[in-house]
Amino acid sequence: MKPKAAIRGLPVYQPGKPLEEVKRELGLKEVIKLASNENPFGCSPAVWESLAAEREFFAMYPEGTAPDLRRELARHLGVDEARLIFGNGSDEVVQMLARAYLEPGCESVMADRTFPRYETLTRMEGATPVEVPLVDGTHDLEAMASAVNERTRIVWICNPNNPTGTIVARDALVRFLDRMPEHVLVVVDEAYYEYVTDPAYPDTVSLLDRYPQLFILRTFSKIYGLAAFRIGYGIGHPDVVTELNRVREPFNVNRLAQRAARAALADQAFVERCRRLNREGVETISRQLHEWGLHHFPSHGNFVLLDTGKPADEVFQSLLKQGIIVRSGEALGYPTYIRVTVGSPEQNARFLDALAVCLGRQRNEVR
Ligand SMILES: Cc1ncc(COP(=O)(O)O)c(C=O)c1O
Repeated sequence: MKPKAAIRGLPVYQPGKPLEEVKRELGLKEVIKLASNENPFGCSPAVWESLAAEREFFAMYPEGTAPDLRRELARHLGVDEARLIFGNGSDEVVQMLARAYLEPGCESVMADRTFPRYETLTRMEGATPVEVPLVDGTHDLEAMASAVNERTRIVWICNPNNPTGTIVARDALVRFLDRMPEHVLVVVDEAYYEYVTDPAYPDTVSLLDRYPQLFILRTFSKIYGLAAFRIGYGIGHPDVVTELNRVREPFNVNRLAQRAARAALADQAFVERCRRLNREGVETISRQLHEWGLHHFPSHGNFVLLDTGKPADEVFQSLLKQGIIVRSGEALGYPTYIRVTVGSPEQNARFLDALAVCLGRQRNEVR
C-alpha cells in the first residue's frame, strides 16, 4: 500500500494527556487539566436543557446547513446568512479552506509559531507552508506581507495567537489587508475572540464589506464551553462560502452540536461571566509570574505561555506528579516554556502552588 506522497512523515496530532489516564497512572484522586484551553466553567446550563428536545430526532441526519443556528448566529453577528459556514469544530473549517484553496505548487503563509493545523493541512494538500517568525511572540505582519507572492493562496493570522496569546491590533491588520493582492485569502482565526478585552483588538466582522478576501474563524469550543460537541464556524464572502460548501461533508455538524450551540449563543450572560473570570485569572497568574521574574507573553486568550527557566518536559512531569496537566513548550517551539490554560480561581491557585514547588519559589498571597 502506498499513501499519497504529501502525507508521508506528517505528524500525528498529540492531544493533551487525558485526565482519567493521568489519575490511573499516578494513583491521584484529583487531577486538573489545564492543557487544551477548555472552559473551566463548563457551558451554559441552558445547553443541558436544550438537548432533551433532540431525543426524538436521533434517527435522522442533521441539516448540514444548520438553518436555525445560521439564522440566530447571523442575527447575533449582524451579517447576512450567506456569509456563514459551519464545521465539525473550526478545525474542520481550516480543513475545508485548505482543501478548497491549496494545491501543489502554491503556498500558504503563517507565523512561526502558531496553531499547527495551518501547516499540517497545507502539507496535506501538497502545498508549501511559508513560516514567518514571530517578533516578541506577535505576528510580524510586515514580514508576512513581504512573504506573499503570486503562488500564495492563503495567509493565516491567528488572533489571539496560540500558543503566545498575543494579538494583532486593528490598525496593523487594516494596513496588511490594504497590501494584499486579490488572489490571496486572508484567514483570521479568532478561536479566542470572546476572551479579548483590549480595545485595540479588531472588530473584523465590520471589515468584511470592505475586504472580500477576509475570512474569519470562530468556535463554540472555547468560551461557550462546547468542545465535546465539535462545532465552529467561518464568516466570509458568500463566494468563498460557496467554494467551501463544495468540499464540505454533507452532514458535517451533528444535531446535538447545532442545538447546543443555539442554546449557548442565547446565554450571553454566561459568556460575559467567563470573560470576566478569565481576565481576573490571567491577571492573578501574570502578577505572580512578574513577582518571580518569569517571562511570559501578554495573553489575550484563556492561556498563558510562560518561561520556567528549566527544560519544559521536566516542569511538565513535576506538575503532573502534583496532579496538574499543562502543555510542555517542547513541542510548541519554546523548550523552557509551558502553556497553561487559565482555570477557575481555585485551579489557578493550585497551579501556582504547584509551580512554586517545582521551581523552588515562595508563593506570595497575590490571589
Ligand atoms: C487557534 C485555534 N484555532 C482553532 C482551534 C480549533 O478549535 P475547534 O476545532 O475546537 O473549534 C483551536 C483549538 O485549540 C485553536 O487554538
